[in-house]
Amino acid sequence: MSAVALVVAAGRGERLGYPGPKAFVMCGGRPMLEWSIDALKAVPEIGHIVVATPPGVEPPAGTSGVFGGQERSHSVRAALHHTLAGDPVLVHDAARPLVTPEIIRAVLAGLDDAADGAIAASREADTLKREAPGGGDGPNGPATVAETVRRDGLWAVQTPQVFRREILSRALDQPHDVVAGATDDASLVEGLGGTVRLVECPRENFKVTTPDDLRLADLILRSRSR
Ligand code: CTP
Ligand code: MG
Repeated sequence: MSAVALVVAAGRGERLGYPGPKAFVMCGGRPMLEWSIDALKAVPEIGHIVVATPPGVEPPAGTSGVFGGQERSHSVRAALHHTLAGDPVLVHDAARPLVTPEIIRAVLAGLDDAADGAIAASREADTLKREAPGGGDGPNGPATVAETVRRDGLWAVQTPQVFRREILSRALDQPHDVVAGATDDASLVEGLGGTVRLVECPRENFKVTTPDDLRLADLILRSRSR
C-alpha cells in the first residue's frame, strides 16, 4: 500500500488572530505545520505528501505544494487533484501539530476491507447540553439549557481521516454548496452512503483554534522533546 497524505494549511487562522496564516505560526519552537510533516514522514506506508498552502508560501522540504481554496474542503480538493498517485488518501489539518506516527498508523490500519474511510476521534468526555432557541449573547440574554444530550455513543472528531481515493474524489466533486458546507471530509463520504470507521485516539490530538489552544500545544510539544 502506498498512501498519499494531503495536509491542509491554507486557512487564515482568524480565530487565532495572529498576523500570518495559522499553520506557519511558531509552536513548540517551529512553524506549526512542521510537526505534522515530521509525523507523516515517519510513517512508511505514506509515499507522498501534498500540502495546500496559502498563496506565496513555500511548502516544506520533501513535499509538493498546491494553493488552497476558499473553504477547507476546496483546499482538500485542490490537493487531491494535484496528484493521481496514492490510495488510500489521508487528510490532515496542519492545525493539529500534536499528531503522532502512532495515531497516523492506527487510522491507516482502521481502514479495513469493508470500510470506505477511517477517522481519528475521541469519545466525548464532557456532559453536553443543548440551548433553548433564541438565547446566547444576543438581546435575549444568556443561553438557557433546553436539554441534556446523552453523551453515550458520541465522538469528537479529529484528523487524520483516511479514505479510498475513489469515494473521496466523488465526495469532493459534489456541487459547490454541498462541499463548502461540510465540516469534515468524512461527512461528505457518509453522505454518499460510505462506511466510516471510528479509530479511538488521544484527546491530546486537538486542533489549535484559539490562543489558549496554541499555548497548550506549545507546552505539550516542548514537554515531549525533553
Ligand atoms: N484550511 C485550508 N484552507 C481553507 C481553510 C482552512 O487549508 N480555506 C485548513 C487550515 O489551514 C487548518 C485546517 O484547514 O489546518 C482546519 O481549519 P481551521 O482550524 O478552521 O483553520 P483556519 O481556517 O485557518 O482558522 P479560522 O477558521 O479561525 O480562520
Ligand atoms: Mg477555518
